[in-house]
Amino acid sequence: MLEEKTILITGATKGIGRALVSRLETHNTLRFALVARSSELLGELKAHLQSQGHECEVFVGDVAAEPFVTSTVQHCVERFGSIDILVNNAGIGRFGEVEQYSLSEWQQLFDTNVTGTFLFSREVVPHMKQQGRGQIVIVASDVSKRVFEGGSAYCATKFAQDAFSMALRKEVRRFGIKVSTIFPGLVDTSFHAQPQGDPAHQGWLRAHDVADAIFYVLNTPSHVVIDEVMLHPLIQEY
Ligand SMILES: NC(=O)c1ccc[n+]([C@@H]2O[C@H](COP(=O)([O-])OP(=O)(O)OC[C@H]3O[C@@H](n4cnc5c(N)ncnc54)[C@H](OP(=O)(O)O)[C@@H]3O)[C@@H](O)[C@H]2O)c1
Repeated sequence: MLEEKTILITGATKGIGRALVSRLETHNTLRFALVARSSELLGELKAHLQSQGHECEVFVGDVAAEPFVTSTVQHCVERFGSIDILVNNAGIGRFGEVEQYSLSEWQQLFDTNVTGTFLFSREVVPHMKQQGRGQIVIVASDVSKRVFEGGSAYCATKFAQDAFSMALRKEVRRFGIKVSTIFPGLVDTSFHAQPQGDPAHQGWLRAHDVADAIFYVLNTPSHVVIDEVMLHPLIQEY
């Protein structure tokens, strides 16, 4: 079902985004548009995908920068003729008590996690409407549905992503556009204070577990939309 599709993935260089690229590599007819801030990692990824025979464009920039997002989507449509799938995955975390947050830290969280999701969705929706089909996947978090001490800012961004997704789903369903939200629990990626693979992450989800869930969501028949997927490591209490 992914034949001849163009997929734009934000946060493609590490963690869940990178695992999703690996999961999708087996589909030779997919066209990749990949976004992150690190040009070096994106360059390596592009070279790797091209060596496997894939079409790939990379875009180095911040998901919260409006001109960057606008030009990225425009370039993709010009280059590939369409954007069939958008995966809003880029995100950051900051944790601590409320009085420890500076305004700029608070804003950076909202810029990356919420504004980035809004901007990319806003830019692709007109193209998807024109095509009469499309799919938007939003990688939120299980803390879109619950909160924890020290998570006030991060949870607020993830609740916002969830609310945005739910309203967007209602708006675009009639145009043949699917909106699916993924709510992972703890995932062993470089997102956390300890490095990926740290013993403290033992038993957590692996990035490829979440990528597999996204892959499943992307492979439904045209009349089916999976609205939400929540997944946790068995050992996690939540
Ligand atoms: N890890 C978890 O336990 C967990 C649990 C639930 C939900 N999530 C969510 O899953 C998503 C992916 O997280 P992850 O664990 O895979 O994190 P990760 O390993 O840290 O990867 C984050 C990716 O986002 C990119 N990124 C970050 N800020 C960006 C920005 N402003 N503009 C463009 N790209 C940006 C990073 O690349 P650059 O740094 O090069 O830009 C990187 O490719 C996030 O939305 C996160 O909130 C994670």
